[in-house]
Parts: sequence; C-alpha cells; structure tokens
Amino acid sequence: MLKHSSIAGTRAALLDWRRRGERIALVPTMGNLHAGHLHLVERARQVAQHVAVSIFVNPTQFGPNEDYAAYPRTLEADEARLTEAGVDVLFASTADEMYPGGTEGSARVEVPRLSDILCGAFRPGHFTGVATVVAKLFNIVQPDVAVFGEKDYQQLLVVRRMVLDLAMPIEVLSVPTVREPDGLAMSSRNGYLSAEERRRASLLYQALREAKVRIEGGVRDYASVEAGGLSRLRAAGFRPDYFSVRRANDLAAPAPDDAELVVLAAAWLGSTRLIDNLPVRPA
Ligand code: PAF
Repeated sequence: MLKHSSIAGTRAALLDWRRRGERIALVPTMGNLHAGHLHLVERARQVAQHVAVSIFVNPTQFGPNEDYAAYPRTLEADEARLTEAGVDVLFASTADEMYPGGTEGSARVEVPRLSDILCGAFRPGHFTGVATVVAKLFNIVQPDVAVFGEKDYQQLLVVRRMVLDLAMPIEVLSVPTVREPDGLAMSSRNGYLSAEERRRASLLYQALREAKVRIEGGVRDYASVEAGGLSRLRAAGFRPDYFSVRRANDLAAPAPDDAELVVLAAAWLGSTRLIDNLPVRPA
C-alpha cells in the first residue's frame, strides 16, 4: 500500500491508473478503523480496480465543545488493517495540508435544509464541514466511485445532494450499517463508553427496531411512534436529541402514502453521543 500525506503525492500515485482509464474508488474516513470501515473497503474493491482510503480527522465538522481533540487517532493500527485489506493508496493528511490558509474564512460547501435538520440542528455547521472536506477529498482523489456507510444516513444524503447539485462525476455507493452481535451500530465513538454504558447502548437499536416493527405492522401515527421511542430511551438512561420518522430520500416529514421511510435517532449515553437509523417500509 502506498501512503501519502500530501495532496500532490496522492494525485501522482493515482495518475497512471486514471490515464489508463482504470476505475478508482475512494473510502473517506476519520481513521480508528473498525469492521464497519473494512466492509466499506470490501465493497470498494468489488466495484473498482483500485481503492484509495483517506484518513483525516476533519476539524471543521466538530463544534467548539465537541470531541475533536479526544477523537481516537490510531494511524499505525489503521495502516496495518488497510494493508491487509488490499487497499492501494492511503491518503493520511493533516489540517495544515487540507486547510493551508487555516480553517477560518476558507471556502466551504453548503447543502442547505438537509444540513440544518436532525443532527444538523444539534451540531450547527457539522454538515457544512463534512460537505466541504468530502468535496475537497473528491477533488484530490477524483474517484469514479465513493463509498459511505448508511449509519451516517444524513451525511450520506448530504453528500449525494452535493454530488447531484454540483454535477460531480462521481457515483456514491452506500453500504448497510455493520452491527455488534447485540445490535449496536459500529462506531469509533463506541470506544468512549464505559463497560456499564456499553451494556445499555444497544437499547438505541432496540428502540429503533420497535418503531420499525410498529410502522411495518400498520401504525401510521408517526408522532406517537416518535414519542414512544423518546420515552423508551429516557427510561433506559439516554438523553435523546431526537427520535424521528422521516421520508427516506430527503428526510422530509413523511406523507401518509410514502413507501420508503427511515427512523433515525441521536442520543447521549453519559458523555457519548450515539446515532443510528433503520429503513422502514410501511405496510
Ligand atoms: O464519516 C466520516 O468518517 C466523516 O464524516 C467523513 C465522511 C470522512 C468526512 O470527514
């Protein structure tokens, strides 16, 4: 595996493949890789001849009181896993390389509305940071296809919308969430949980499952499903930011005849914020 920390080195590493018309896939990550990330890499290998992975803990998607400094950085272990997974190029960058003039006043990519609801309402500026860095990674790697996890469902829709609106010639592929045996969605932030919190954490998944079962069993009163989810989480000691039933393709409030929905939740367990979602097909 070739490893580069510079934009120029990464571009040079990919040039010959691009000139030969060989397909390149990008898996953007913030590192601290787990089985969920390796699943994205596996999918990337199925759809392209060459796979590039980026590792960059992007400061502009963290709020001032969030976990940017504490975010786990495990580059050596990540490199070993990516080499074993058959990745061709690793772009492991730094804030100086990605934001040469500093982050203040740097150009940014806004995807309004989709960025302002759900997680965006609780993390102002988060999705602008995500869209900006993903656009930049796309410009650096110029992949044919980019692979994202469905666990970050709102992020996936923000990226899809950016690609569509800005006519980026990139296919965005999504991969279903990878879960622990008890249902907890894999996430780098799970490592923040104490042993006791970890035992309770899968209740988030269970609350989403219950909502899915209710709707797929015929319940159409989505407000009562949401209220049920919130009280279930509170009873288990979570502090929920939201528990919401939305239309799958644009996260708008669902109309009675919408056939593809998603139920999404974000909730705090101690000082860890967990997010998860499940697709729902009303009966
Ligand atoms: O999902 C993530 O790890 C990040 O939000 C991403 C897409 C790599 C952008 O920093």
